[in-house]
Amino acid sequence: MKFEHVLVVGAGQMGGGIAQVIAASGRRVSLHDPYPGAVERGLEAMRKSLTKLGADVEETLARVERVDDLVEADLLIEAIVEDQSEKEALFRRADDLLPETAILASNTSSIPITSIAAVTRRPERVIGMHFFNPVPVLRLVEVIRAVQTSDDTAAAIVQLARDLGKEPAEVRDFPGFVSNRILMPFINEAAYALMEGVAEPEAIDTIAKLGFAHPMGPLALADLIGLDTCVAIMEVLHNGLGNPKYAPCPLLRQYVQAGRLGRKSGRGFYAY
Ligand SMILES: NC(=O)c1ccc[n+]([C@@H]2O[C@H](COP(=O)([O-])OP(=O)(O)OC[C@H]3O[C@@H](n4cnc5c(N)ncnc54)[C@H](O)[C@@H]3O)[C@@H](O)[C@H]2O)c1
Repeated sequence: MKFEHVLVVGAGQMGGGIAQVIAASGRRVSLHDPYPGAVERGLEAMRKSLTKLGADVEETLARVERVDDLVEADLLIEAIVEDQSEKEALFRRADDLLPETAILASNTSSIPITSIAAVTRRPERVIGMHFFNPVPVLRLVEVIRAVQTSDDTAAAIVQLARDLGKEPAEVRDFPGFVSNRILMPFINEAAYALMEGVAEPEAIDTIAKLGFAHPMGPLALADLIGLDTCVAIMEVLHNGLGNPKYAPCPLLRQYVQAGRLGRKSGRGFYAY
Protein backbone atom coordinates (compact mmCIF):
# COMPACT_ATOMS: atom_id res chain seq x y z
CA MET A 1 0.00 0.00 0.00
CA LYS A 2 1.33 3.39 -0.97
CA PHE A 3 -0.96 5.61 1.13
CA GLU A 4 -1.13 8.40 -1.45
CA HIS A 5 -3.69 10.35 0.56
CA VAL A 6 -3.44 10.54 4.35
CA LEU A 7 -5.94 12.14 6.74
CA VAL A 8 -4.26 13.56 9.86
CA VAL A 9 -6.61 14.50 12.70
CA GLY A 10 -5.32 16.84 15.40
CA ALA A 11 -3.05 19.70 14.28
CA GLY A 12 -1.09 20.17 17.52
CA GLN A 13 2.61 19.55 18.18
CA MET A 14 2.43 15.99 16.90
CA GLY A 15 -0.28 16.17 14.21
CA GLY A 16 1.44 19.15 12.58
CA GLY A 17 4.78 17.33 12.55
CA ILE A 18 3.21 14.15 11.17
CA ALA A 19 1.40 16.08 8.42
CA GLN A 20 4.72 17.74 7.57
CA VAL A 21 6.75 14.54 7.15
CA ILE A 22 4.00 12.92 5.10
CA ALA A 23 3.70 15.95 2.80
CA ALA A 24 7.50 16.09 2.53
CA SER A 25 7.44 12.49 1.25
CA GLY A 26 5.31 13.63 -1.71
CA ARG A 27 1.96 12.41 -0.39
CA ARG A 28 -1.26 14.39 -0.17
CA VAL A 29 -2.39 15.26 3.35
CA SER A 30 -5.80 16.37 4.61
CA LEU A 31 -5.45 18.00 8.02
CA HIS A 32 -8.44 18.28 10.35
CA ASP A 33 -8.75 19.93 13.75
CA PRO A 34 -12.10 21.39 14.85
CA TYR A 35 -10.64 23.80 17.42
CA PRO A 36 -10.47 27.45 16.28
CA GLY A 37 -7.02 28.47 15.11
CA ALA A 38 -5.50 24.98 15.57
CA VAL A 39 -4.88 24.22 11.88
CA GLU A 40 -3.46 27.74 11.35
CA ARG A 41 -1.05 27.23 14.25
CA GLY A 42 -0.13 23.80 12.87
CA LEU A 43 0.58 25.23 9.41
CA GLU A 44 2.64 28.05 10.90
CA ALA A 45 4.73 25.56 12.89
CA MET A 46 5.25 23.52 9.70
CA ARG A 47 6.37 26.61 7.81
CA LYS A 48 8.93 27.42 10.52
CA SER A 49 10.20 23.86 10.71
CA LEU A 50 10.48 23.44 6.91
CA THR A 51 12.35 26.75 6.68
CA LYS A 52 14.74 25.68 9.44
CA LEU A 53 15.32 22.32 7.73
CA GLY A 54 16.03 24.08 4.43
CA ALA A 55 13.17 22.20 2.71
CA ASP A 56 11.00 23.47 -0.12
CA VAL A 57 8.38 25.24 2.01
CA GLU A 58 5.75 26.19 -0.60
CA GLU A 59 5.93 22.92 -2.52
CA THR A 60 5.50 20.88 0.66
CA LEU A 61 2.71 23.03 2.11
CA ALA A 62 0.86 22.90 -1.22
CA ARG A 63 0.30 19.18 -0.54
CA VAL A 64 -1.46 19.90 2.79
CA GLU A 65 -5.15 20.81 2.58
CA ARG A 66 -7.22 21.92 5.52
CA VAL A 67 -10.51 20.01 5.85
CA ASP A 68 -13.50 20.91 8.03
CA ASP A 69 -14.44 17.31 8.79
CA LEU A 70 -13.15 13.79 8.30
CA VAL A 71 -12.66 12.93 4.61
CA GLU A 72 -12.05 9.68 2.74
CA ALA A 73 -8.37 8.72 2.61
CA ASP A 74 -6.16 5.60 2.42
CA LEU A 75 -4.93 6.09 5.97
CA LEU A 76 -5.99 8.00 9.08
CA ILE A 77 -3.35 9.07 11.56
CA GLU A 78 -4.98 10.33 14.74
CA ALA A 79 -3.06 12.80 16.94
CA ILE A 80 -5.80 14.35 19.10
CA VAL A 81 -5.88 14.84 22.87
CA GLU A 82 -4.68 11.86 24.96
CA ASP A 83 -8.17 10.83 26.10
CA GLN A 84 -9.50 7.33 25.53
CA SER A 85 -13.18 8.25 25.08
CA GLU A 86 -12.34 11.09 22.63
CA LYS A 87 -10.11 8.76 20.63
CA GLU A 88 -12.72 5.99 20.59
CA ALA A 89 -15.40 8.45 19.41
CA LEU A 90 -13.11 9.57 16.59
CA PHE A 91 -12.30 5.99 15.54
CA ARG A 92 -16.03 5.12 15.46
CA ARG A 93 -16.70 8.05 13.11
CA ALA A 94 -13.65 7.30 10.97
CA ASP A 95 -14.76 3.66 10.70
CA ASP A 96 -18.11 4.87 9.34
CA LEU A 97 -16.62 7.41 6.92
CA LEU A 98 -13.36 6.00 5.55
CA PRO A 99 -13.26 3.25 2.89
CA GLU A 100 -13.23 -0.21 4.44
CA THR A 101 -9.75 -0.85 3.02
CA ALA A 102 -8.28 2.18 4.83
CA ILE A 103 -5.97 1.69 7.82
CA LEU A 104 -6.73 3.63 11.01
CA ALA A 105 -3.63 4.51 13.07
CA SER A 106 -3.24 6.26 16.41
CA ASN A 107 -0.25 8.27 17.61
CA THR A 108 -1.25 7.70 21.26
CA SER A 109 1.53 7.60 23.86
CA SER A 110 -0.24 5.20 26.19
CA ILE A 111 -3.86 4.32 25.39
CA PRO A 112 -4.36 0.62 24.51
CA ILE A 113 -4.57 0.18 20.74
CA THR A 114 -6.50 -3.04 21.40
CA SER A 115 -9.35 -1.03 23.01
CA ILE A 116 -9.37 1.54 20.20
CA ALA A 117 -9.43 -1.27 17.59
CA ALA A 118 -12.35 -2.93 19.39
CA VAL A 119 -14.73 0.01 18.75
CA THR A 120 -14.35 -0.38 14.95
CA ARG A 121 -15.65 -2.96 12.48
CA ARG A 122 -12.12 -3.32 11.05
CA PRO A 123 -9.99 -4.08 14.13
CA GLU A 124 -7.44 -5.91 11.95
CA ARG A 125 -6.75 -2.58 10.20
CA VAL A 126 -6.14 -0.59 13.39
CA ILE A 127 -2.58 0.00 14.64
CA GLY A 128 -0.41 2.34 16.72
CA MET A 129 1.98 4.58 14.79
CA HIS A 130 3.84 6.40 17.56
CA PHE A 131 6.04 9.24 16.33
CA PHE A 132 8.46 11.18 18.54
CA ASN A 133 8.68 14.89 19.19
CA PRO A 134 9.88 16.84 17.16
CA VAL A 135 8.53 14.56 14.42
CA PRO A 136 10.55 16.03 11.50
CA VAL A 137 13.80 15.46 13.45
CA LEU A 138 13.47 12.24 15.45
CA ARG A 139 13.68 9.08 13.34
CA LEU A 140 11.94 6.57 15.57
CA VAL A 141 8.41 5.31 14.88
CA GLU A 142 7.16 2.78 17.44
CA VAL A 143 4.71 0.56 15.55
CA ILE A 144 2.24 -0.98 18.01
CA ARG A 145 0.30 -4.08 17.09
CA ALA A 146 -3.02 -4.49 18.84
CA VAL A 147 -4.12 -8.03 19.62
CA GLN A 148 -6.35 -7.78 16.51
CA THR A 149 -3.88 -6.11 14.08
CA SER A 150 -3.21 -8.20 10.96
CA ASP A 151 0.27 -8.97 9.60
CA ASP A 152 -0.60 -7.08 6.40
CA THR A 153 -1.51 -3.93 8.34
CA ALA A 154 1.67 -4.08 10.41
CA ALA A 155 3.83 -4.68 7.31
CA ALA A 156 2.21 -1.76 5.46
CA ILE A 157 2.81 0.66 8.34
CA VAL A 158 6.40 -0.52 8.87
CA GLN A 159 7.02 0.10 5.15
CA LEU A 160 5.36 3.53 5.32
CA ALA A 161 7.58 4.52 8.25
CA ARG A 162 10.64 3.56 6.17
CA ASP A 163 9.29 5.45 3.16
CA LEU A 164 9.04 8.55 5.39
CA GLY A 165 12.75 8.16 6.22
CA LYS A 166 11.99 6.84 9.71
CA GLU A 167 13.20 3.76 11.55
CA PRO A 168 10.27 1.59 12.69
CA ALA A 169 10.45 -0.59 15.81
CA GLU A 170 7.61 -3.11 16.19
CA VAL A 171 6.16 -3.77 19.62
CA ARG A 172 3.07 -5.43 21.08
CA ASP A 173 0.29 -3.56 22.77
CA PHE A 174 1.17 -3.57 26.46
CA PRO A 175 0.82 -0.62 28.86
CA GLY A 176 3.22 2.17 27.89
CA PHE A 177 4.36 0.06 24.90
CA VAL A 178 8.19 -0.02 25.13
CA SER A 179 9.15 3.65 24.87
CA ASN A 180 7.13 4.93 27.81
CA ARG A 181 7.57 1.78 29.85
CA ILE A 182 11.28 2.60 29.95
CA LEU A 183 11.25 6.40 29.81
CA MET A 184 8.55 7.18 32.38
CA PRO A 185 9.93 5.10 35.28
CA PHE A 186 13.29 6.78 34.55
CA ILE A 187 11.70 10.23 34.89
CA ASN A 188 9.70 9.06 37.92
CA GLU A 189 12.87 7.83 39.64
CA ALA A 190 14.58 11.17 38.95
CA ALA A 191 11.60 12.89 40.65
CA TYR A 192 12.02 10.55 43.65
CA ALA A 193 15.74 11.41 43.85
CA LEU A 194 14.80 15.09 43.95
CA MET A 195 11.98 14.57 46.48
CA GLU A 196 14.27 12.61 48.79
CA GLY A 197 16.87 15.37 48.62
CA VAL A 198 19.49 13.16 47.00
CA ALA A 199 20.48 15.96 44.60
CA GLU A 200 19.39 19.26 43.06
CA PRO A 201 17.63 19.16 39.64
CA GLU A 202 20.70 20.44 37.80
CA ALA A 203 22.88 17.69 39.29
CA ILE A 204 20.36 14.97 38.43
CA ASP A 205 20.16 16.16 34.82
CA THR A 206 23.93 16.61 34.52
CA ILE A 207 24.44 13.00 35.58
CA ALA A 208 22.13 11.74 32.82
CA LYS A 209 23.59 14.07 30.20
CA LEU A 210 27.27 13.51 30.86
CA GLY A 211 27.13 10.04 32.41
CA PHE A 212 24.67 8.36 30.03
CA ALA A 213 25.16 10.64 27.00
CA HIS A 214 21.49 11.64 26.99
CA PRO A 215 20.92 14.90 25.09
CA MET A 216 18.67 16.10 27.92
CA GLY A 217 18.30 15.16 31.60
CA PRO A 218 15.11 13.42 32.83
CA LEU A 219 13.75 16.44 34.72
CA ALA A 220 14.24 18.83 31.79
CA LEU A 221 12.66 16.20 29.54
CA ALA A 222 9.69 15.84 31.92
CA ASP A 223 9.21 19.62 31.75
CA LEU A 224 9.19 19.37 27.95
CA ILE A 225 6.69 16.50 27.88
CA GLY A 226 4.46 18.06 30.56
CA LEU A 227 4.32 16.80 34.15
CA ASP A 228 0.56 16.15 33.84
CA THR A 229 1.27 13.88 30.88
CA CYS A 230 4.03 12.10 32.84
CA VAL A 231 1.62 11.42 35.74
CA ALA A 232 -1.08 10.21 33.33
CA ILE A 233 1.32 7.76 31.66
CA MET A 234 2.61 6.48 35.03
CA GLU A 235 -1.03 5.82 35.96
CA VAL A 236 -1.49 3.81 32.76
CA LEU A 237 1.58 1.72 33.70
CA HIS A 238 0.47 1.39 37.32
CA ASN A 239 -3.12 0.38 36.51
CA GLY A 240 -2.24 -1.73 33.49
CA LEU A 241 0.67 -3.68 34.93
CA GLY A 242 -0.58 -3.70 38.53
CA ASN A 243 2.88 -3.33 40.02
CA PRO A 244 3.37 -0.69 42.78
CA LYS A 245 6.79 0.16 41.35
CA TYR A 246 4.95 2.20 38.69
CA ALA A 247 3.08 4.48 41.14
CA PRO A 248 3.60 8.16 40.16
CA CYS A 249 6.07 9.95 42.45
CA PRO A 250 4.16 12.16 44.97
CA LEU A 251 6.34 15.14 44.01
CA LEU A 252 5.21 14.87 40.38
CA ARG A 253 1.58 14.82 41.53
CA GLN A 254 2.14 17.80 43.81
CA TYR A 255 3.71 19.90 41.04
CA VAL A 256 0.72 19.11 38.84
CA GLN A 257 -1.67 20.14 41.64
CA ALA A 258 0.23 23.43 41.87
CA GLY A 259 -0.13 24.01 38.13
CA ARG A 260 3.61 23.52 37.61
CA LEU A 261 3.21 21.49 34.44
CA GLY A 262 6.59 22.24 32.85
CA ARG A 263 7.43 24.46 29.89
CA LYS A 264 3.83 24.87 28.79
CA SER A 265 2.87 26.57 32.08
CA GLY A 266 6.17 28.43 32.52
CA ARG A 267 7.32 26.34 35.46
CA GLY A 268 7.93 22.70 36.30
CA PHE A 269 11.18 21.38 37.76
CA TYR A 270 12.71 24.52 36.25
CA ALA A 271 11.38 28.05 35.63
CA TYR A 272 11.03 29.13 31.97
N1 LIG B 1 3.84 15.72 22.75
C1 LIG B 1 4.58 14.64 22.63
O1 LIG B 1 5.78 14.64 22.92
C2 LIG B 1 3.95 13.36 22.12
C3 LIG B 1 4.80 12.35 21.66
C4 LIG B 1 4.23 11.18 21.13
C5 LIG B 1 2.85 11.04 21.11
N2 LIG B 1 2.04 12.04 21.59
C6 LIG B 1 0.58 11.85 21.49
O2 LIG B 1 0.09 12.59 20.38
C7 LIG B 1 -1.24 13.03 20.64
C8 LIG B 1 -1.32 14.53 20.48
O3 LIG B 1 -0.40 15.14 21.36
P1 LIG B 1 0.13 16.64 21.11
O4 LIG B 1 1.33 16.80 21.98
O5 LIG B 1 0.23 16.92 19.65
O6 LIG B 1 -1.07 17.48 21.75
P2 LIG B 1 -1.52 18.97 21.39
O7 LIG B 1 -2.35 19.43 22.53
O8 LIG B 1 -0.37 19.79 20.92
O9 LIG B 1 -2.49 18.76 20.11
C9 LIG B 1 -3.70 18.07 20.16
C10 LIG B 1 -4.61 18.66 19.08
O10 LIG B 1 -5.78 17.85 18.98
C11 LIG B 1 -6.89 18.70 18.80
N3 LIG B 1 -8.06 17.96 19.26
C12 LIG B 1 -8.44 17.71 20.53
N4 LIG B 1 -9.55 16.95 20.53
C13 LIG B 1 -9.86 16.70 19.24
C14 LIG B 1 -10.88 15.96 18.58
N5 LIG B 1 -11.81 15.32 19.28
N6 LIG B 1 -10.87 15.91 17.23
C15 LIG B 1 -9.91 16.55 16.51
N7 LIG B 1 -8.92 17.27 17.08
C16 LIG B 1 -8.91 17.34 18.42
C17 LIG B 1 -6.57 19.97 19.58
O11 LIG B 1 -7.26 21.08 19.05
C18 LIG B 1 -5.07 20.08 19.40
O12 LIG B 1 -4.75 20.92 18.30
C19 LIG B 1 -1.59 12.51 22.04
O13 LIG B 1 -2.24 11.28 21.91
C20 LIG B 1 -0.21 12.33 22.68
O14 LIG B 1 -0.21 11.38 23.71
C21 LIG B 1 2.57 13.20 22.07
